Amino acid sequence: MVLICPSMLSADPTRLGDELQAVERAGANCIHWDIMDGCFVDTITFGAQVVAAHRKISSLRFDVHLMVENPDKHLRKFAEAGADSIIVHSETTKHLHRTLGNIKKMGKLSGVALNPATSIDCLKYCLDIIDIVIVMSVNPGSSGQQFIQSQLEKIAELKQIIPETTEICVDGGINANTGRECIINGANSLVTGSYLFKSKDYAKAIQELRTC
Ligand code: DX5
Ligand code: ZN
Repeated sequence: MVLICPSMLSADPTRLGDELQAVERAGANCIHWDIMDGCFVDTITFGAQVVAAHRKISSLRFDVHLMVENPDKHLRKFAEAGADSIIVHSETTKHLHRTLGNIKKMGKLSGVALNPATSIDCLKYCLDIIDIVIVMSVNPGSSGQQFIQSQLEKIAELKQIIPETTEICVDGGINANTGRECIINGANSLVTGSYLFKSKDYAKAIQELRTC
């Protein structure tokens, strides 16, 4: 079963709660929160209070994708805000193993996101404490970018080394075509931003991605 994770970054920002409930009704498996600090990437997006407010109106899994410098500083706040998983970029922490361990100690699923240029090598000695790997198929910072084809090889390499139960999620430029290629190469979870939120029928778009 392929998990479909709508990114709230592409939702109508004046109606975030309504949009979240609409994609939940339309069959989404989890909600992907893109947290950007204006330092690791140029954009600034949501803080923990936004995640906490939406926690009250949804029972879906909340994935918090931290695109921030010093992620350790923010783990506790997002854990308390109701994140189910917290995903950090390997490029943002000098002590990836410790950071992942801290996420697990807070009772959350732990995740690592890899920029397009980052190799999977940094995961090798952390595999037993990683629940989710996000392969970034665009450079982080904004939605609506074009899928980077070279990441398909990374997904396939990852599939060879990670335990069966670890989720391989792909984030960026996903549509029915690129989504299919990701799944063929071993992904079992897709983030969808502009493809979903620009569509007229959310249920149809989610179904298309899930069965692509
Ligand atoms: C990129 C974000 C993605 C992005 C996905 O920095 O991590 O989640 O918003 O949007 P699309 O699907 O439009 O590429
Ligand atoms: Zn993301």
